[in-house]
Amino acid sequence: MKLTTTFATLAALLPFALGQSAEWGQCGGIGWTGPTTCVSGTVCTVLNPYFSQCLPGSSSSAPPTTTTSSSSPTSTAPTSTATGLNKLAQAAGKKYFGTATDNSELTNKAYTAILDNKSEFGQLTAANSMKWDATEPSRGDFTFSSGDQIANLAKANGQLLRGHNCVWYNQLPSWVSSGGFSAAQLTSVIQTHCSTLLTHYKGQAYAWDVVNEPFNDDGTWRSDVFYNTLGTSYVQIALEAARAADPGAKLYINEYNIEYTGAKATALLSLAKSLLAAGVPLDGIGFQCHFIVGQVPTSLQTVMQQFTALGLEVAITELDIRMTLPATNALLAQQETDYENVVKACMNVKGCVGITVWDFTDEYSWVPGTFSGQGEACPWNQNLQKKPAYSGITAAL
Ligand code: XIL
Repeated sequence: MKLTTTFATLAALLPFALGQSAEWGQCGGIGWTGPTTCVSGTVCTVLNPYFSQCLPGSSSSAPPTTTTSSSSPTSTAPTSTATGLNKLAQAAGKKYFGTATDNSELTNKAYTAILDNKSEFGQLTAANSMKWDATEPSRGDFTFSSGDQIANLAKANGQLLRGHNCVWYNQLPSWVSSGGFSAAQLTSVIQTHCSTLLTHYKGQAYAWDVVNEPFNDDGTWRSDVFYNTLGTSYVQIALEAARAADPGAKLYINEYNIEYTGAKATALLSLAKSLLAAGVPLDGIGFQCHFIVGQVPTSLQTVMQQFTALGLEVAITELDIRMTLPATNALLAQQETDYENVVKACMNVKGCVGITVWDFTDEYSWVPGTFSGQGEACPWNQNLQKKPAYSGITAAL
């Protein structure tokens, strides 16, 4: 083997060791201590003060200056920052494109630079900090500081806020689940919780997931303290308390595995019909959309239309599309198609008001911690670089 060949091979394999970042790699930004030049065929481009990326291109690979803000990106990649997901969604008639976020993530400046960008995200959901265990850890003891941090961020950024959530069997303190309450007592517990929560955020939340995940996958009611003590009436109790507390908020039932036609979607549809017939305040249905690459349901649009036909609005509330690791180019390409198809389903339904991803970066996704061996479910990767999935979303918008 000739020396030049050996060197070229090494250079291709080890750009980092040679002080160069690979294509799509980071090459600058505040706090970045890695390489500031790019492999040939790519150009180090300033995307924001915190992040410069090696984008395909043929001009010189001189390091960018991150101290001046006047340099304009010379990107030829599809991930141009000329626009953003929320801007595109709004231009297409939707209310927002949004994301979930969590308090511990907000110290990461490179992350918040994207989160705060209203062109990308016009809506925030607190991934954890408005849940029952976070807001009323013991009876009557309400703590809103973490939830407020997210609500205040949304307000400061001019983003809509989605409240998540009021009544859910999970992340529920044991004083509720094991309290041994009578029906009358539990009614009061629910009313106090929902009323205090929605009153605290009155006027700030566009919508609330008032009831989360009430059904089993086979369409039977989930056996939890609410159903076991109150039967189906707990849904009405929660929705009425929520409406009284914040009459301006859209009140939702949020659920997963209703994106497929079948027993669970049918059960929720008949619940929605009976609530509406009884005059119970229900405005919308949240489709969580935690999907698997290559297995995105083709029925999403049809099911959404079954709900909008009742006069309800619908939203995609927790979108992510996971894969079995490690990621391959083929899986990432399929994920791009999958994201495009999910977003298209919402685009095709007039009453689908918006789309929320369940955090936008693999760095903070709940997937690896919940589904063993799976991950890479978000449109931005762990290094806050846009993946092909991002292009899938923009193509649909
Ligand atoms: C998840 C959070 O993202 C995790 O951080 C937490 O550990 C568990 O809950 N459906 C929901 C969300 O309605 O509240 C869940 O969020 C994901 C599934």
